[in-house]
Amino acid sequence: MAGKVDAFVWGRVDLGAMKAVILVGGEATRLRPLTCNTPKIMVPVLNRSFFEHLGGYLKKHNIVDIVLAVGKSPEQIQDYLGDGSKLGVRLTYSIENRPLGTAGAVKNAERFLDDSFIVLNGDIFTDIDLSRMMRLHHKNKATASLAMTPVEDPTMYGVVETDSEGRVKRFIEKPSREMVTTNMINAGIYILEPDILSCIAPDTFSMFERDVFPPLLEKGQAIYGYPFRDYWIDIGAPDKYLKLHHDLLRRYVGNKGIKFEGESFVHPSAHIEGPAIIGEGCFVDRNSIVRGPAVLGTRCRVEEGAVVEGAVLWQDCQISKGAKLRNCLVACRCRIGEESEISDGCILGDDVRIGKGSKVSKGIKIWPSETVEPGTILS
Ligand code: GDD
Ligand code: MG
Repeated sequence: MAGKVDAFVWGRVDLGAMKAVILVGGEATRLRPLTCNTPKIMVPVLNRSFFEHLGGYLKKHNIVDIVLAVGKSPEQIQDYLGDGSKLGVRLTYSIENRPLGTAGAVKNAERFLDDSFIVLNGDIFTDIDLSRMMRLHHKNKATASLAMTPVEDPTMYGVVETDSEGRVKRFIEKPSREMVTTNMINAGIYILEPDILSCIAPDTFSMFERDVFPPLLEKGQAIYGYPFRDYWIDIGAPDKYLKLHHDLLRRYVGNKGIKFEGESFVHPSAHIEGPAIIGEGCFVDRNSIVRGPAVLGTRCRVEEGAVVEGAVLWQDCQISKGAKLRNCLVACRCRIGEESEISDGCILGDDVRIGKGSKVSKGIKIWPSETVEPGTILS
């Protein structure tokens, strides 16, 4: 690390030689049915796989050597992402025979790691400044550094208590409400020294948050937490996945903007209100309304008089005449029958069929390939 410490002395950290391990495992239960057929790292965000965003973030920080620690569906991920060259990064795969947990997965990738390295949860979208984090890591001569971010409800995350110098005092993973002492949580980004790998048992399930960091703290190791106020979200829950779309649409397309990703047909009487992204080959028919923030995947059809508002549609969906969708998530190839209504917070898996005149009430999840008979009221 000598070169990097020198760089720090000059106030500049080159992260280019660093490797990043992205954790790509777990069951992604909360995102089902979207993740029944699609691993969380591949779910589309603004019509690009989530990995493209995460890889782009690392690349922006000059980190192009990425180890994907994969616990599930390795073939699907490898087929899709390949060696990463299309995205300008170098991907190496470290595959687990069975889920090894967040720390076990990194231990499993030990042969690819020989210097300070970064670990990222594979489901976070953030602007956190990795260079700044690296500077602080060096300054504190930390064994482990972790980014912290404030959240409204820490009970869904890992709470991190630090002292006035930023040294971590305690981790409380998924605390009950009474146990919450701070709203600063583990943002799922670590900088680790390679020595830490000797503290993780090989081929054994273990988690940084519960099994590795707390005993290291007891041994007096230097673990530091750094609060960041930059944008951060974990897409692991559907409301957050939808929120990320809405936030990014406002950021990249602008409040009233409409971005066409290729040629599409929009009838002159149709009304598209930004921010919206319309994938290539869409068909938006007469008197229909697409009201942003909204995303239509490639080849979606919004037929006459249909309304799509605040929703995210994956590719090849058909919204038939007069149907209405609001703030919902619709995976690939769904068919929404004429005059049907899909309400806020609903999630439809791939290939769902909703029969004509049906009503799907708030928050209902429909599993892939299910058919809802015409005229059904699901509540
Ligand atoms: N390779 C591999 N193997 N990856 C795994 C495994 C595994 O066995 N288990 C989980 N992961 C990956 C997930 O794919 C995800 O990218 C990351 O590890 C974290 O797992 P989640 O299941 O998403 O955990 P969480 O969101 O409930 O909590 C974690 O993230 C929070 C921030 O979003 C914890 O690290 C919390 O402390 C943290 O606050
Ligand atoms: Mg998560």
